[in-house]
Amino acid sequence: MPKEGFPPAATSCSVSDLIQKACTTAACAAPNDQKAEVEKLLKETLPKLQLDDFEDTPANQRGYCRKLLYTHPSGFFSVLQLKWLPGAETPVHGHNAWGCVGVVSGKIGCETYDAAADEPNGVRSNGVIEAGAGAIATVDPNPKGIHRLFNPTDSVATTIHIYGMDLSENPCAINVPYGKRSH
Ligand SMILES: [Fe+2]
Repeated sequence: MPKEGFPPAATSCSVSDLIQKACTTAACAAPNDQKAEVEKLLKETLPKLQLDDFEDTPANQRGYCRKLLYTHPSGFFSVLQLKWLPGAETPVHGHNAWGCVGVVSGKIGCETYDAAADEPNGVRSNGVIEAGAGAIATVDPNPKGIHRLFNPTDSVATTIHIYGMDLSENPCAINVPYGKRSH
């Protein structure tokens, strides 16, 4: 029973709640602190986050759906949600801006790489990790943070992504592809 005068704690957080809070965060944080502040915000909201549905977003040839939810009017950040069918996999890529990613449901695999000019695709693997619901990762702009994400399970996984750039024209503009495989 909540104490008198205190509203009960929210049991869920909608995407619009998250976006509203991210706008406040972006307005208050110095440019160099935005990634860390957004990470903090995602840590607070991820356990309660309810994603919108993906019915209007078909999966691409690689087995994942990418839905742009919001771009800040000043281009400070964009928010996307992704759905990963079993076996879905991104190409190896870096990013054109900082990013913060949270696993909302299911499990996601992530292989990280270093840039390596002597390798055929220009990268060398650092290994693979798997992350379940509630996990959060941040990424710095290319050539740091080169990676690929995949769904290693037989179940659907969903993730939320906040990137520090305007992706309203083209959500794929965040990606810097490596190797021969198209994004
Ligand atoms: Fe990525």
